[in-house]
Formats: sequence, structure tokens, C-alpha cells
Amino acid sequence: MSLSDSEKEAVLGIWGKVSGNVQTFGAEALERLLKSFPQTKIYFSHFDLSEGSADIKKQGANILKAIGEAVKHLDNLEGTLSKLSDLHAYKLRVDPGNFKLLSNCILAVLAIHFPEQFTITAHAGWDKFLSAISTVLTSKYR
Ligand code: HEM
Repeated sequence: MSLSDSEKEAVLGIWGKVSGNVQTFGAEALERLLKSFPQTKIYFSHFDLSEGSADIKKQGANILKAIGEAVKHLDNLEGTLSKLSDLHAYKLRVDPGNFKLLSNCILAVLAIHFPEQFTITAHAGWDKFLSAISTVLTSKYR
């Protein structure tokens, strides 16, 4: 992942605003995923998928907490996300295309809640960062 210094700074800056509220923002991203791309519901058939459900809140927080760990280890995403990579590849078998969809929902949440900070540089930086996370989480499929 090659983020420029200004992109890294922008990623960290927005993360500083998200980190105290991982459940709210994570749940919004997940709800956007499930509503805009209903085919993704198949992975969560054991969840209560009604709006604002405890399952969605918890899973939304899980996703953003993992992203928070990744933010702290931008130079070692592979090691940091290794267990999650095993889980998504070997156990959950999530189709890799879905990671792009979730990443776009996360970008939408950031853009809506932090319009001033979501500059072109921040957009590019977050896109690269989320793509790098997705690459790690789908790297063990083959
Ligand atoms: C940025 C990308 C993603 C991150 C950071 C992420 C993170 C996580 C985390 C932290 C967990 C909980 C692991 C645990 O309980 O130990 C999890 C579980 C799970 N993830 Fe992901 N995930 C991502 C993408 C996706 C995508 C795209 C899908 C499918 C559309 C997906 C489906 C699932 C499912 C089904 C579970 C298990 C939920 C449960 O039964 O509790 N994930 N993920």
C-alpha cells in the first residue's frame, strides 16, 4: 500500500473523529451495504437484519474496530489482520467482490459525516487503505 504522507495524515485525521463512535458509523455502513446490495444478506442469515438491530450494531462496531487496529499498523496490515483473513477466507468464504461494496459504503459514511475533512486527498487515502485491508482479507482464498 503506498499512501503518500498527506494521504496518511488525512486517514488518521478522519479516524480520530470516527474512533469514539465505531458502533454508530459501523452500523450505518453495514446497513447501507445490506440495503443497497441485498445479495450481501446471505452472509448474515443468522442475524436480525431489521434496522438498528443489536446484531447490526455489534457487527458494525466489529468492522470498524478492526479498521481501527489496521489504522494503528498501516505498515503491517498483513500481520495485524491475519486472524480475520483466515476467518473470512476459510470459514465465512465471503465472495471477494463484496469487500469493494462494503468499502464504498464506508466511504459514503465518512463523506456524509465529515464533508469538510473528506477532501480529495482523504478520499484517495481512505480508498487505498480500505483496498489494502480488502486485499489482506481475501489473500488466503487461493
Ligand atoms: C473492511 C472489510 C471487513 C472487515 C474489517 C471485517 C471485519 C470483521 C470482524 C472484526 C468480524 C468479527 C470476527 C470475530 O468475531 O472474531 C467479522 C465477521 C464477519 N464478517 Fe467481516 N469484515 C469485513 C468485510 C466483510 C464482508 C464484505 C462481508 C460479507 C458481505 C463480511 C461478513 C462477515 C460475517 C458473515 C461475519 C461473521 C458474523 C457473525 O456471525 O457474528 N465481512 N468481520
